[in-house]
Amino acid sequence: MGVAIIGTGNVSFHLIRGFLGSGVSIDMVYGRSKEKLREFEREFAVPVSDDFSNHVQSEVYFLAVKDSAIAEVAGWFRGKPLLHTAGAIDIEVLSFYTDIYGVFYPFQTFRREYEIDWSKVPIFLETCCKDFDQKLRGIAERLSKNVHFLSTEKRRYLHLSGVLVNNFVNHLLYHTKRLLEEKGLKFEWTFPLLEQTLENIRLFDPYVIQTGPARRGDLVSMTGHQRLLKDNDLLKDIYNVLSHSILRLYNEEPGENVD
Ligand SMILES: NC(=O)c1ccc[n+]([C@@H]2O[C@H](COP(=O)([O-])OP(=O)(O)OC[C@H]3O[C@@H](n4cnc5c(N)ncnc54)[C@H](OP(=O)(O)O)[C@@H]3O)[C@@H](O)[C@H]2O)c1
Repeated sequence: MGVAIIGTGNVSFHLIRGFLGSGVSIDMVYGRSKEKLREFEREFAVPVSDDFSNHVQSEVYFLAVKDSAIAEVAGWFRGKPLLHTAGAIDIEVLSFYTDIYGVFYPFQTFRREYEIDWSKVPIFLETCCKDFDQKLRGIAERLSKNVHFLSTEKRRYLHLSGVLVNNFVNHLLYHTKRLLEEKGLKFEWTFPLLEQTLENIRLFDPYVIQTGPARRGDLVSMTGHQRLLKDNDLLKDIYNVLSHSILRLYNEEPGENVD
C-alpha cells in the first residue's frame, strides 16, 4: 500500500510520520517549496517533487494544503484518487477534478513541534462512491481504529466544535499565562486544575459540574475580577461574554448586567 502526499505543512508532516510508522509507503511528497521538500527528504528519506505534473502511481493522493488552495492544487492532479484533509471544506470541491475522491479529516490539532499518537486520533471519512469506502477505511485504519464516516454537513459542526474546545481554550490559556506571569505567578499552578477539568468532563455532563462566580450569580466577585482586568480590554471582553453566557444559562431571568 502506498500514498502520495501533497503539501509540506503540519498535517503532511504527521501523516508521513504516521504512515511510515505503520508500514504504508510514501510514493511521493509534493510541495512548492524546495527547501521544505529537502527537510522532508532528510527527515523521512521519502521521494519528493516540486513538479505537480510529474504523477506517480499511488493508491490515493492526500491534498494536505491550506483550505483555500485545495481546488487549485486538485487541478494539478486531475483524474487521480484525491482526498482533502479539511474539516470545513465540502467534499464536492474535488468532484470537478476526478471521479474518485473523498475526505480524510483527522480530528486533532497538528503542529510539527509535538508528537501525535495516531492510535488516539478519531478520523472522519467521506467518499464520493461506495466502491471507495473500503479502500479509504483500510488506509485510515493503518493509523487509527477510531474511524467513522461523516457527511460534509456534520463534519462542519465537528470542525466548529474543534475550534471551541481547542482553539478557544488554548487562547484562554494564552491570556491566563500572560496574566499570571505579569503578576509574578506560575502558569504551572493551573495544571492540576486543568487536569481535573478534563477528568471531570469524561465522567459528568459539563452542565452539571459548572462552578464559579457566574454559576453562583456572585456579582461581587465578578465585579472584582472586572476591576483586575480594567487595563486588559481583550480579556475583559472575553470574561464578560463567557460570564453572561453562564449567568443566562443558570438563571431563569438573565442576570443583572455585570458590565
Ligand atoms: N493543523 C491542524 O491542526 C489540522 C487538523 C485537521 C485538518 N487540517 C487541515 O489540513 C490541511 C493542511 O493544514 P496544515 O495545518 O498542514 O497547514 P500548513 O501547516 O499551513 O501547511 C499548508 C501547506 O499548504 C501549502 N500551500 C498553501 N497554498 C498553496 C498553493 N497555492 N499551492 C500549493 N501548496 C500550497 C503550503 O505550502 P508552503 O509551505 O510552500 O506555503 C503548506 O505546505 C488544511 O486543509 C487544514 O484545514 C489541519
